[in-house]
Amino acid sequence: MLNRRGFVKAALAAPFVPSLAGFLSSRAQAEAGKTLKAAPATAQLVPADVAGPTPVWAFNGTAPGPVLRVKAGERLKVMVENGLDQPTSVHWHGIRIANGMDGVPGLTQEAIEPGASFSYDFVAPDPGTYWYHSHDRSWEQNARGLHGALIVEEAEPWAGADRDLVLVVDDWRLTEDGTIDESFGHMMDWSHAGRLGNVVTVNGSYRPKFAVRPNERIRVRLINASNARTMAIGLAGTTARLLALDGMPVGLNDVAEPVQLAPAQRADLLADFAASETPLPIAVETRDGPVPIAEIVVSGDPVREASDDPIGLPTSGPGVLPNLSGAKRVELLMEGGAMGGMSGAMHDGRMMDMRALVDEGRVWAFNGIAGDMDEPLARFAKGSPALIAIRNDTGWPHAMHVHGHHFRVVSRNGKPIADPALRDTDLMMPDETIEIAFIADNPGKWLLHCHMLEHAAAGMMTWFEVA
Ligand code: C2O
Ligand code: CU
Repeated sequence: MLNRRGFVKAALAAPFVPSLAGFLSSRAQAEAGKTLKAAPATAQLVPADVAGPTPVWAFNGTAPGPVLRVKAGERLKVMVENGLDQPTSVHWHGIRIANGMDGVPGLTQEAIEPGASFSYDFVAPDPGTYWYHSHDRSWEQNARGLHGALIVEEAEPWAGADRDLVLVVDDWRLTEDGTIDESFGHMMDWSHAGRLGNVVTVNGSYRPKFAVRPNERIRVRLINASNARTMAIGLAGTTARLLALDGMPVGLNDVAEPVQLAPAQRADLLADFAASETPLPIAVETRDGPVPIAEIVVSGDPVREASDDPIGLPTSGPGVLPNLSGAKRVELLMEGGAMGGMSGAMHDGRMMDMRALVDEGRVWAFNGIAGDMDEPLARFAKGSPALIAIRNDTGWPHAMHVHGHHFRVVSRNGKPIADPALRDTDLMMPDETIEIAFIADNPGKWLLHCHMLEHAAAGMMTWFEVA
């Protein structure tokens, strides 16, 4: 058995923790509470013989927090209490929400001060896989564990799967003694890929095992909750079909695996697990091949003949592209970061060179502005089509996220996309240009930012207004 030092050394050498035998965990997550309390807690993130529980920040004592469930069209009321010693807020990622409930301090609400609480109360219109997370100092609060799954169920239960399996995948940076590495705010992370971790957990556990029966048909809801790590996740022993991306149905045509998820992205897979004597790994692709992050243990009586065709599959895809003629077109140029060649940007109302920006913790810019929020990127008339042309003129990938709306990537690098999915987050590679389109039909002030949380904090953030 590896000792503590050996474990962490190995973990730091490889991007993911190597296999350790005999570690079994399953976390029963509570159903939707009416209260989410953010407070310090502990979580057993690595095998207990490697290190003890890690001090984390948690909702209702667990990291991730409880799985919240609500039916589409119904109201979710959650009282968020702040038991931290710093302000916080909760953002309901991907929900086409009423603006005042979006959870963005300084834009849609005041931050929730220590000891205070805020009552979130909103209707979740679209069924799908969503998540909630801290949106104040999220580069620290999310990394310490303040997030969880938000499942919006079909108004009429869907008979296509026997059950759900919600998998919140997270990437932690731990020290040798199993505590959270407190190198938050490190400019090396902020100007490069963001804070990458050295331990990947699923539902807050190291390589948990999940029991299924042969040919059981499971809707696997994958959520990438990491600060900055993009992961391509594959399921062994099944031909999974892709049901949805970022909560929105894709029409079930695609081969799903491995499915690449940037930070904040989700994918729903429909998986029939074949009978298997050995556990079936759920694995993340790395340069050295797939590394397991969880295991499916198949046992018991088959649920059905393997040859059964799936029933009740959703036929609806992403729908038709809205008419974009007359769309207001806005340009968004992304610059900065290490090796990006940005010479300076506006911050605090004046032009700063890179050295001055670094002193301010700003190393990225949108349209030459390093994260200043005084003016919106654009104003759209309510109900009008919006077209945002985004150019990644940096040396790094970015996970571009729009609040309050789902968008379609209608072109990439000048090539139109025929049947674009509805997404709330798109992964852009260096030098890529995309055009995203949506109907600006949700009134209010909405963020548009990179979901590599260090990039957002260091300048990759703006907002638009729908009025
Ligand atoms: Cu999931 Cu503005 O974030
Ligand atoms: Cu980014």
